[in-house]
Amino acid sequence: MADSGSPRKRHEEEEEDDIVCLDPSFFVDRSYEMTTFTFGSHELRLLCLRAASTDYDLTGQLVWPGAVLMNNYLSEHPENVKGCSVIELGSGIGITGILCSRFCKRVVLTDHNDEVLEIIKKNIELQSFSENAHAVLTAEKLEWGNSDHISSIIGKHPGGFDVVLGADIYILENFLPNRLFLLFICNISNFNSCILWTLTRRKLPAI
Ligand SMILES: C[S@@+](CC[C@H](N)C(=O)[O-])C[C@H]1O[C@@H](n2cnc3c(N)ncnc32)[C@H](O)[C@@H]1O
Repeated sequence: MADSGSPRKRHEEEEEDDIVCLDPSFFVDRSYEMTTFTFGSHELRLLCLRAASTDYDLTGQLVWPGAVLMNNYLSEHPENVKGCSVIELGSGIGITGILCSRFCKRVVLTDHNDEVLEIIKKNIELQSFSENAHAVLTAEKLEWGNSDHISSIIGKHPGGFDVVLGADIYILENFLPNRLFLLFICNISNFNSCILWTLTRRKLPAI
């Protein structure tokens, strides 16, 4: 065993002094750009990034292909969500829930990442200047399967939601087993809920 005065211990201490501890903010890019998206006859102006880091799961800072797919579908078939109460899981910048707010009565956008929740809130704020916003739009922290987060949301929305939306979100089996995920969906839905999900198969380019 090396005592504190031993050369080995001193060497270890000196090496530790050389280590720079990176704060999460080192990875966070907040240079959001105002971007216009068009889905059918609907135009949305939202803040987003063009690229995002997977460190600290900042994947929600940009728009994914699954959201584009979902939004094109919703703009062509708004009757599927018309007048409904909607909860969106893993909302990212909020592009899908915000489009829904044009057809629905209530939309709750959710995400587990605090940085992403900040940009969702900014994008919700931008909608207050739009004459097209009909629904009550809110943002809530929701980590899939987290019972405290679920209880807090259900406390505010005791009737559950008519529609559960998920655009380009993957639930890893080792993070939340399928049966628990189903239980989680049952908790936030009501007996007549409809689930709308889009997934794109991803392939990383060779670098
Ligand atoms: C690939 S992005 C999709 C974002 C958006 N729906 C879209 O299609 O543009 C995945 C989103 O899910 C969120 N997410 C990942 N794991 C999560 C978890 N365990 N609980 C809640 N949200 C999560 C991320 O923060 C991110 O916003």
